[in-house]
Amino acid sequence: MVNGKDFPEDFVWGASTASYQIEGAHAANGRAPSIWDAFSATPGKVKNGDTGNVACDHYHRYREDVALMRDAGFSAYRFSVSWSRVLPEGRGKPNEAGLDFYDRLTDELLKNGIEPWLCLYHWDLPLALHEAGLGWTSREIVPLFADYASLLARRLGDRVPRWATFNEPNMFTMLGYGAGVHAPGLRDRDAWLDAVHHVNLSHGAAARRLRADLPASALIGTVPNLQPAMPATDSDADRQAAAKMDAAMNRATADPVFLGKYDPITREWMGARVRPGDEEAIYAPLDWLGLNHYSPTYAAAATNRWGFRNMDPPEGAETTLMGWHVKPEAFRDMLIDTARRYRLPVYITENGMADDVEPGADGAVNDAARISYLDRYLGAVREARAAGADIRGYLVWSLLDNFEWAMGYGPRFGIVHVDYASLKRTPKASYHWLAALAGAGAPA
Ligand code: FCB
Repeated sequence: MVNGKDFPEDFVWGASTASYQIEGAHAANGRAPSIWDAFSATPGKVKNGDTGNVACDHYHRYREDVALMRDAGFSAYRFSVSWSRVLPEGRGKPNEAGLDFYDRLTDELLKNGIEPWLCLYHWDLPLALHEAGLGWTSREIVPLFADYASLLARRLGDRVPRWATFNEPNMFTMLGYGAGVHAPGLRDRDAWLDAVHHVNLSHGAAARRLRADLPASALIGTVPNLQPAMPATDSDADRQAAAKMDAAMNRATADPVFLGKYDPITREWMGARVRPGDEEAIYAPLDWLGLNHYSPTYAAAATNRWGFRNMDPPEGAETTLMGWHVKPEAFRDMLIDTARRYRLPVYITENGMADDVEPGADGAVNDAARISYLDRYLGAVREARAAGADIRGYLVWSLLDNFEWAMGYGPRFGIVHVDYASLKRTPKASYHWLAALAGAGAPA
């Protein structure tokens, strides 16, 4: 088992969440819908017809949630802002009541000794922009995203020390625009490539605006999900498929952002989308990298429009409720590789596992499999650090059980159980385990 003493005293322990997955209060105080409100209201898109209308009602219960983090000894909390709560149209006139919520949340965190880490975009694009043809497939979104970043920087920059532009740009562009299984439900390779390039350009524009509008001490970064793409077999065809999957899922949104240049496979796919000066516009020096990682992925050759298809993990592999392969060595290797390749201090901003464990007769939630997962993945962090990778913190996904996108409320990722009928929070065994770890490393 890992031990708090395996990590330095200044190692950051915390949790991550996302606005649409926990806030609820979908129509409160001037919030307008996002593409996820529209998607989840469309029959057949989300399991059981679940929506984020109420979710964990964090909008009203944030004080209780902050207290749970304080009691766990956490020192950082990454949350995302609902763009359509603060700018209902996505642009133009801000909604003061929406901004007030993030003011209150920020102050509550600081009062409890927890650093607020703000992520600008965790997948909930204002529906008004999408409907006006100004979503991610339009290049016109670039200055709008920078304006949104600037609004928050001017409002919260005096208190929020760490900022991220995007959460998993690779995942939401592929799932929402390429594969059609997330909002806004497009299933089109060209739309995916458009979205990738415009998200990259938006990152560059927003990073520059944040730099201009925030105090000099602010730390600016972004949060990719990086996962090794493994060939399903040793054949040349599968190896080539894995290289394509690696380009699509890892490189397309990370290389231009961190290195200033598209990888050769993505560059060829992009064609004339990349105009002269675009790669320079995407690249802006950053202060940190937030790494989200859950499991390796597997690719096989295919004659479809992608040149690869996703495969299940090998026969007999240990998997979670999501079907994701539990393989801590892949995490260790990805950490070492990421720190070396992108040369930034790395904070793990998401890692965790889903189960469906409910409270027992005594009310306790015994999520032993989660403790085992966290222990082994933190062991991988320890190994990567020992190998010289600059890994400075671990924020678990997630604080609360929440709305797991197209899977609805089935998979539970929280270290705190949420009863969705009563909204009662119950810290799980993994919460107490992580709290002991976070507390052990802290100065006496
Ligand atoms: C990540 C997302 C997060 C959550 C976890 C399980 O890809 O960033 O919102 O859904 O997966």
